[in-house]
Amino acid sequence: MIAVAGGTGRLGTLVVKRLAARGLEVRVLTRDPDRACHLSGCVAEVVSCDVRDRANVESALPGATIVVSAVHGFAGPGRVSPESVDRDGNANLVEAAGAIGADMVLLSVVGASESSPMELYRAKYAAEQHLRASGVGWTIVRATAFVELWAEIMKKPVVFGRGENPINFVSVGDVAAVVERAVTDAGLRGRVIEVGGPQNLTFNELAVLLQRIRGRSARVRHVPPGLLRAVAPFARQARAAIAMDTLDMSFDAPAADDALTQRPMTAIEVALSQAST
Ligand SMILES: NC(=O)c1ccc[n+]([C@@H]2O[C@H](COP(=O)([O-])OP(=O)(O)OC[C@H]3O[C@@H](n4cnc5c(N)ncnc54)[C@H](OP(=O)(O)O)[C@@H]3O)[C@@H](O)[C@H]2O)c1
Repeated sequence: MIAVAGGTGRLGTLVVKRLAARGLEVRVLTRDPDRACHLSGCVAEVVSCDVRDRANVESALPGATIVVSAVHGFAGPGRVSPESVDRDGNANLVEAAGAIGADMVLLSVVGASESSPMELYRAKYAAEQHLRASGVGWTIVRATAFVELWAEIMKKPVVFGRGENPINFVSVGDVAAVVERAVTDAGLRGRVIEVGGPQNLTFNELAVLLQRIRGRSARVRHVPPGLLRAVAPFARQARAAIAMDTLDMSFDAPAADDALTQRPMTAIEVALSQAST
């Protein structure tokens, strides 16, 4: 049994479907089982679980041989935060996985670091460190920004900040393929796999590409950096927007031939076209 925390999310849904299509039994952990309705045909079980609650997590995992964590607390319902979900919730999953002898596949971010200005990146790093020190069999999948999420955020052609910083975007479907591999290939235990897309794009370039794909010509508008800085003390999203506008967010996929790189590498334009149909 594979337990997938975050199985209702953008990535988790694809992972669950891929695992189920291989005939594997999947249990989805969610705070609200109604959010897993779209998975009713392919999952064995849906279990109510808030990863912030240790006892809740302990009762949700028995029978699992692998635990996948595709949760995050950057945004979303339920007053979540990177500290409570990505750091402490993942720690709960690690401890509970260890108690039943399960392995764990942890979703993290390219650039996760103790010293990152982004709290999400620091919380992911803390989760990685906890997992690596736990004695649990682990694989960490670090991904760059999911381009389908940004297409949704940029339904209107609005860019946060200058929009001139190159950022690596990846198709979420490509990340799901790597997570499937991380779950099913025990040879990948003890590995950190970094997954990026084929292209670094600025937000200005992404906005223009989205306009072209959507057949629109409205002017791209900007939320000025000064306004972001003014609200940053009160809004995590504004702090992240400043970081994405200024930090090195580029990524070059490792050179060929490593078996890990033999994976789908969907062109950003193709991913965006598929997302908009
Ligand atoms: N989006 C990106 O650009 C990106 C980039 C790199 C890495 N990642 C990582 O990839 C993973 C999936 O991201 P996504 O964008 O696909 O996520 P998403 O669609 O926003 O979904 C978030 C998931 O987290 C779950 N979750 C949040 N708080 C929870 C809690 N307290 N207890 C249990 N579950 C909780 C939600 O489950 P319920 O609401 O059903 O409880 C939901 O399934 C995350 O680990 C994320 O950090 C994302």
